[in-house]
Amino acid sequence: MNPQDKPNLRDMRVSYELGELNDDTAPASPIELFQGWLADAVAHQLPEPNAMSLATIGADGSPNVRTVLLKGVDERGFGFFTNYESRKGRELAANPRASLCFLWTNRQRQVVVRGIVTKLPREEAESYFGVRPYGHKIGAWASKQSEVIPNREWLEGRAVELRRTFPEDQPVPCPDFWGGYALQPQELEFWQGRPSRLHDRLLYRLVNGVWQRERLSP
Ligand SMILES: Cc1cc2nc3c(=O)[nH]c(=O)nc-3n(C[C@H](O)[C@H](O)[C@H](O)COP(=O)(O)O)c2cc1C
Repeated sequence: MNPQDKPNLRDMRVSYELGELNDDTAPASPIELFQGWLADAVAHQLPEPNAMSLATIGADGSPNVRTVLLKGVDERGFGFFTNYESRKGRELAANPRASLCFLWTNRQRQVVVRGIVTKLPREEAESYFGVRPYGHKIGAWASKQSEVIPNREWLEGRAVELRRTFPEDQPVPCPDFWGGYALQPQELEFWQGRPSRLHDRLLYRLVNGVWQRERLSP
């Protein structure tokens, strides 16, 4: 097929036959199940297995979605780092309800997480910022994330200036406007593709501090 040919979307489909999600073998903790699926995605060398879609809610009630990288997960929640003054940062400050979606296509799996987002402590931002490559640190300083900028040269000029301000042989401080969030889950839904579109869907909901599990129709 030539790259300029229109893809035939109507006939594009996959039969999902790789696995199943059983009620009797699924762990009681959805975090344990999530960690198992993430480890499986890593073991199968999926590209960017920790990439997740993050949906937030704008002031007018409209949803906004973008990809961010998961940087930690445990019973406290799903951690990620970003610019607090970005669009997502402003939206989360006004409305902390958010949703995540992981898609591991080659494993025919999806996980959707819904919950409440809080800022991570400053020490965690500083600790993670410290281990990022030098260029990424400069990039974080250079970017007024989500703002309109005049052109590419403007951004690169800022990066050159910042490389002078923060030389590579000295520690680069973590900007005040940059840090982490944790999404504390109230619901996790695990989807495993099955043949004939009769997929498995297990929904875990936190009810009075205890995880309840239900099976959803595909
Ligand atoms: C694979 C991938 C990973 C990304 N990881 C992050 C991330 O961890 N943090 C981040 O702020 N932006 C990340 N981005 C960029 C965001 O998708 C987005 O463009 C940026 O955060 C601005 O979003 P906003 O304007 O909605 O706030 C990533 C993009 C991709 C495609």
